[in-house]
Amino acid sequence: MGKFTRTFKEIKKDMFQECGGKASHLGELTSMGLNVPYGFCLVADAFFHHLRENNLENEVFAIAKTINYDDIRDLDQKTEKIRSLIESAPIPREIEEEVVENYNLLGKNEPFVAVRSSVAIKDSEISSFPGLMDTYHYIKGAKTIMDYVKKCWASVFTSRATAARFKKGIEHERAIIAPIIQRMVNARCAGVMFTLNPVNGDISKIVIEGAWGIGEGVVSGNITPDRFVVDKVILEVSERTISCKQLQYVYDPDQRKPVYKEVSIENQKRCCLEEREIMELVRLAKVIEDHYGTPMDIEWAIDRDFEFPENVFILQARAESVWSKKKTEPVVGKKTGYELIMERAMKTIKLAQ
Ligand SMILES: Nc1ncnc2c1ncn2[C@@H]1O[C@H](COP(=O)(O)OP(=O)(O)O)[C@@H](O)[C@H]1O
Ligand SMILES: [Mg+2]
Repeated sequence: MGKFTRTFKEIKKDMFQECGGKASHLGELTSMGLNVPYGFCLVADAFFHHLRENNLENEVFAIAKTINYDDIRDLDQKTEKIRSLIESAPIPREIEEEVVENYNLLGKNEPFVAVRSSVAIKDSEISSFPGLMDTYHYIKGAKTIMDYVKKCWASVFTSRATAARFKKGIEHERAIIAPIIQRMVNARCAGVMFTLNPVNGDISKIVIEGAWGIGEGVVSGNITPDRFVVDKVILEVSERTISCKQLQYVYDPDQRKPVYKEVSIENQKRCCLEEREIMELVRLAKVIEDHYGTPMDIEWAIDRDFEFPENVFILQARAESVWSKKKTEPVVGKKTGYELIMERAMKTIKLAQ
């Protein structure tokens, strides 16, 4: 185990203090043998090491203490100053060496990676602010990765994130990002799935939402996704909504970054998933839910460069937060899987007569 890094194989589920929630879950999913793109994270302490080695620790938190939250300009200026201190300081060599070593193990010829933010704190409230911390896609080369690692560290000091912590009474020293460096899925399509129906809390269903390109488009709400409601027991798609998906968030080789592009007319109304891919996602959702023993919220992506089933990747899993807090009541007017099975069984009997 490195001093500043943990590979997904090394990350255990109770390491959320040093690796953050997202990385701990990725470690757990990896140890379950699921198809998770391989990667590693920098531990929370790497950030403090960066600050200390650059003599920034006192300065950063001293500036943060003087912010006047009633004055937007003061908030903007001071958080920008803090971010630029973090980003312009060189990353200590001992951290860089570990990152380079681990990056080289992810693949030959500088593979593309995603640099993702994992919030290294027990307090789950922090990670629930939407769009708070950043994810960078299709990053390549150790030097560039280091820049994005610093952007992740600095992203806790956007005006919005800083003000949100102030409002919740969370100390700035406690909100640390453990950046994740993970192989990029070259996503043909991607999205989310829930092991219950998020519309009504029905735990007999799995709901999959997906669209063309990287999942960012679906997660951010910029693209209206295709939607599939699948029964957990009889494994049948009970509802299927194919949306008109005019945009996709995909890599642009000229700009060397992902951008929103038009989807061809024939693909706009085409289902983004094959039947067998839907069924594989359902299988994975059930495995993950059984393992955690609670309804789950999962991110997935289908890689255009691999054959089925190796192309079906899991990118994140966390406990579903809305319905799991409520008492699950029987859903009026909706049939459970068992009821459907019984209905079928009866039909068969009728036919046989
Ligand atoms: N390794 C990866 N390969 C491809 N897409 C990814 C990868 N990691 C994340 N993404 C996509 O980027 C989106 C945002 O990533 P994530 O790090 O989970 O941020 P957030 O915490 O905002 O959900 C996800 O929806 C996912 O589809
Ligand atoms: Mg996510």
